[in-house]
Amino acid sequence: MTFPLHRPRRLRVTPALRALVRETTLAPRDFLWPLFFSAAVDEPRPVGTMPGVSQLPVKAAAAHAKEAQKRGLGGVLLFGLPKTKDARGTSGLDPNGPVPQAVAAMKDAVPGLVVVTDVCVDEYTDHGHCGILRKRKVRGTAGDEWEVDNDATLEVLAEMALVHARAGADVVAPSDMMDGRVGRIRQALDGSGFESTSILSYAVKYASSFYGPFREAADCAPKFGDRAGYQMDPANAREALREAQLDEDEGADMLMVKPALSYLDVIRDVRAQSTLPLFAYNVSGEYSMLKAAAAAGMIDYGRAMMEVLTSIRRAGADAIVTYHAIEAAEVLGA
Ligand code: PBG
Repeated sequence: MTFPLHRPRRLRVTPALRALVRETTLAPRDFLWPLFFSAAVDEPRPVGTMPGVSQLPVKAAAAHAKEAQKRGLGGVLLFGLPKTKDARGTSGLDPNGPVPQAVAAMKDAVPGLVVVTDVCVDEYTDHGHCGILRKRKVRGTAGDEWEVDNDATLEVLAEMALVHARAGADVVAPSDMMDGRVGRIRQALDGSGFESTSILSYAVKYASSFYGPFREAADCAPKFGDRAGYQMDPANAREALREAQLDEDEGADMLMVKPALSYLDVIRDVRAQSTLPLFAYNVSGEYSMLKAAAAAGMIDYGRAMMEVLTSIRRAGADAIVTYHAIEAAEVLGA
């Protein structure tokens, strides 16, 4: 007989007791704050699908670095919106583009801030895909089809990572899902004296509907087709372990699972397999759903936000990329 001997409620009697036995903690340093720097705006431009998020001019970089420091955040993750786009994403290699400029300004303002850059060409290509396209003959059909050329894309990614490292990024974070890119980027960094620049690999990235709002924020919706030819099938969990292992073997310093909420089991699985620091990306759709539900009076936003972030840490993530970073830091008293 377990009752009345066992009464789990005993440990829930007071807030102090509950705090004493709490298994999962949250702190501002667990959060990476995603920011969008645009070469095309002079003032912050609100993103309609992401209440509270704006595209920022580079001149706002220093103030955001100070804000991140003041709140004690783990760091920032930078995305770029260039002035011009072409088929190869050439503007992503411009050392004077919005990301390299923002990196430099943030490191000038707050040298100790951890600055991470997203490495992917989709914000810089006119077709919106995460790589260089090539025509492929499709057997059994009349015509050709466009596909992303994996190996050609690796060269552009390596160059972009170098541009970010030269600007002063502490960490480069490839999000493209090309095979072999971690190894290629490592080789490029090491070959240019950046052996201390880390790689945070979006190792396990699913082809998710929850990226919808981001594609407005970063202006990178694919102009045709979808990303299922390179991002993972949401039905697959074993494949996540394979992707994580490959990136670890290629030299990734940290791994990421993305999105977070529909993939908590995957976070748990990767945590069990790897000893590397593990990140999870609480993506745009996950953020905007809470905003929309709160605006409709359906949930308590602050409590729902903290519950979501706690669940991601409980699943096994060390750190979380989240648009809630500042609001959550405020709740935590920072
Ligand atoms: C690609 C990239 C995407 C996100 C981060 N990096 C979009 C995509 O793969 O379509 C999504 C982030 C979010 O939804 O918050 N560079």
